Amino acid sequence: MARHEVTLDWVGGQTRMIDVDEDETVLAAAQRAGAPLPLPYGCRTGACGTCVGRLLSIEGSEAAGDDGRTAESIDVADAFAYRREPRALKPRHRDDGYVLLCIARPRANSRVAVGSRVQSELVDNPWK
Ligand code: FES
Repeated sequence: MARHEVTLDWVGGQTRMIDVDEDETVLAAAQRAGAPLPLPYGCRTGACGTCVGRLLSIEGSEAAGDDGRTAESIDVADAFAYRREPRALKPRHRDDGYVLLCIARPRANSRVAVGSRVQSELVDNPWK
């Protein structure tokens, strides 16, 4: 069975590379590997968005731009296949590189920004 290296990059914090089987989700692999910080999660079915990460690069492709956004040339579908429909993500979120780690299985080596700060990017702040 093929495995891929997924580097988890906690925004402003630690980094950890984990091996993920092609039929395993990133969240499950991170828990199995004992990631240094827990990945947040809720439903584990792609419905709540709590586990969201943001794809930064695939197999040594260019890193995210200076503004921290995913480069437009990076397609999440090149890095991950979903176990089921990612209902918590709108099309514009998918276009911006967001990925639900509870249902995402790797197709390539990649680097992903993770943690609660990435999740907060998805939630509109009515006060700003
Ligand atoms: S934990 Fe709810 S969408 Fe992943």
